[in-house]
Amino acid sequence: MKIIDGKSVSQAVKERVRNEIAEKGLKIGLAVVIVGNDQASRVYVNNKKKACELCGITSFEYALPEETDEAQLLELVDTLNKDPRVNGILVQLPLPGHIDEKKVIGHISPEKDVDAFHAVNVGRIMIGDYAFLPCTPAGVMELIHSTETEISGKECVVIGRSNIVGKPMAMLLLHESATVTICHSKTKDLADVCRRADILVSAVGKAGFVTADMVKEGAIVIDVGMNRNSQGKLCGDVDFESVSGKCSFITPVPGGVGPMTIAMLMENTLRAGKLQSL
Ligand code: GUN
Repeated sequence: MKIIDGKSVSQAVKERVRNEIAEKGLKIGLAVVIVGNDQASRVYVNNKKKACELCGITSFEYALPEETDEAQLLELVDTLNKDPRVNGILVQLPLPGHIDEKKVIGHISPEKDVDAFHAVNVGRIMIGDYAFLPCTPAGVMELIHSTETEISGKECVVIGRSNIVGKPMAMLLLHESATVTICHSKTKDLADVCRRADILVSAVGKAGFVTADMVKEGAIVIDVGMNRNSQGKLCGDVDFESVSGKCSFITPVPGGVGPMTIAMLMENTLRAGKLQSL
């Protein structure tokens, strides 16, 4: 069994971005919007700003108070849509309950939507003609590629059907000619389905959800979960102890998919900047 080192793969992606920006002397900017005081969101936003600095991308942070109303946020998005210094706009989710996330995402110019959450970008992904891929699924693809495993013709099982991870994840695997199954809370015989997987991607959000009996011998196991266990320690969906003995490759949490999401955001921001300067 080999552990896929998300830190080093993500480092390589960020270096690629940094070198291209430096060599071409590009001026690239990312606006990061955070509303309210969610602790986890604050950590993510700080990490995104740090990655920008490393890559030579200018980050503009907009930290708005919890009581910001929807109209104010939409107005800020309008301003950023028009700001030529800003190539990418990232509104950190979740937003406070009184703000309609879909409406805010729909307001971001698709050309600056570096999360690829806008319906236009989701549609482009569906038809395989896209500028940006959503950061977490794109990061997972990089991790699978780093194992030098052929994806074409493989049985892939994705657990979770969210718009951010599960659904686009399945689409990206399909684009590489995998046979893809999406499982969710209503799936019958979930363990049976998972045992078919040559590549198993879990995006459930429950610590210890994937156990060794659900994993085929020699499978690649990718853990997108970000959970806290009963001792408050950060952990994924996969019971690493038991599953790691059975699979060929596994991603740890932390240090697996997490750092990739941010690296792919840097790549998307660079791509946005290049497309906008055409
Ligand atoms: N919240 C959790 N993950 C993400 C992400 O990838 N992008 C944004 N904008 N918010 C998130």
